[in-house]
Amino acid sequence: MAKRTIVSMPGDGIGRVVLEEAIRVLSSAGFDAEYIEGDIGWEFWRSEGNPLPQRTIDLIQKHKVALFGAITSKPKEEASQELDPKLRDTGLVYASPIVGLRQHFNLDICIRPCHTYTGNPLNFVRRGTGNEIEEPAVDVAIFRQNTEGLYGGVEWSNPPDQVYDALMTHPKFKTNFGATPREEVSVSTRIFTRKATERILFAAFEYARKYEYKSVTLCEKPNVIRETSGMMYRLAKEIQKKDFPEIQLWNTNIDAQMMWLTKNPEDYGVIVAGNMFGDIVSDGFAGLIGGLGFACSAQFNDEGVGVFEPTHGSAPKYADYPESIVNPIAMIESACMMLDFIDENEISDKIRKAVAKTISEGKVQTYDMKKMKGSVDALKNGAASTHQIADAIIGNL
Ligand code: NAI
Ligand code: MG
Repeated sequence: MAKRTIVSMPGDGIGRVVLEEAIRVLSSAGFDAEYIEGDIGWEFWRSEGNPLPQRTIDLIQKHKVALFGAITSKPKEEASQELDPKLRDTGLVYASPIVGLRQHFNLDICIRPCHTYTGNPLNFVRRGTGNEIEEPAVDVAIFRQNTEGLYGGVEWSNPPDQVYDALMTHPKFKTNFGATPREEVSVSTRIFTRKATERILFAAFEYARKYEYKSVTLCEKPNVIRETSGMMYRLAKEIQKKDFPEIQLWNTNIDAQMMWLTKNPEDYGVIVAGNMFGDIVSDGFAGLIGGLGFACSAQFNDEGVGVFEPTHGSAPKYADYPESIVNPIAMIESACMMLDFIDENEISDKIRKAVAKTISEGKVQTYDMKKMKGSVDALKNGAASTHQIADAIIGNL
């Protein structure tokens, strides 16, 4: 019997391709597991009116650990039109299964590491003081609060009476927005709770300690967003002082951070932020290390449920190529994060070394690494296919 059971959720488009390749790499590296496929994505929205069927939730509940490719999602109207005719006009409204997963399992900790691979042609470069080209090595891990804040879903357009009346009790609302007709007002809230904020901060500091980073940078905007960012900064200072005195706490504003990350990215270690700012800053850093083909992520709760997925989506324009051209490394790296999560560090080390070797050799590169435009001709023009680069990684294990 296999040692572990992993729920595999390929989802849509290239999610299906990259997950298959990642599982091939896992098996070749000696990870002994059985994979049970979980249904998720567009196909299930269309046929069942639910992109995240209960049976998938049950599977994750039972087996705890899931690999996830990517899904397709479309705007509300289009989603309704693509429903199976017998489900149309039944009041079904499309909701993202990713957000659904996060909320159902309270996957409140999201980690997005971004580190430079030596020899990756997509690495960020800058001009040094003597105008020479420098390639700073980036090694950051972004901790993003994954369930609250601006993505918490508490929002209204033309807010109902009770909400509107409550808002009108706030002097700033009254002065700045009180004269606007209510039906012209849209409100998205940014709610932070102390418990969830402490959890993401602790997770960030613990990671910094475990992997010997010298600093944790809180990337928010406490000088302007005084209540939520302000609380996070206050708690960060308390936690650092009490429990992690050997680690420095840095405090940057999200806007300035987006500028600095192209000036001195090598100076940052662990970065921690709320939901939206964490999303933004992690995409910013991902751009420095090769973009979507390299951006991996982990999300987990405090009960051992973890979902591991690349940051990229289903890239529908590449989904139906006879031979896939997309880069599977983000998915493979996400699988390595899964291995770390279940204490299979020897295997994850082995895979990461093989990925690093493949990249530094520079012989087998997908179209993005070749800086080509993605097209069916990419393979003819010398780019490796998804399968070929996975083969090269397996060869280097
Ligand atoms: P996307 O991430 O699917 O693709 C954007 C572009 O990035 C692609 O056209 C391609 O040029 C490049 N790219 C993405 N993954 C790549 C890879 N592994 N290797 C090489 N190049 C890669 O984002 P897009 O086009 O905005 O969205 C497509 C669909 O995916 C939409 O339905 C969207 O809602 C969904 N989506 C799903 C996500 C998820 O499942 N986590 C995240 C983002 C988007
Ligand atoms: Mg994003």
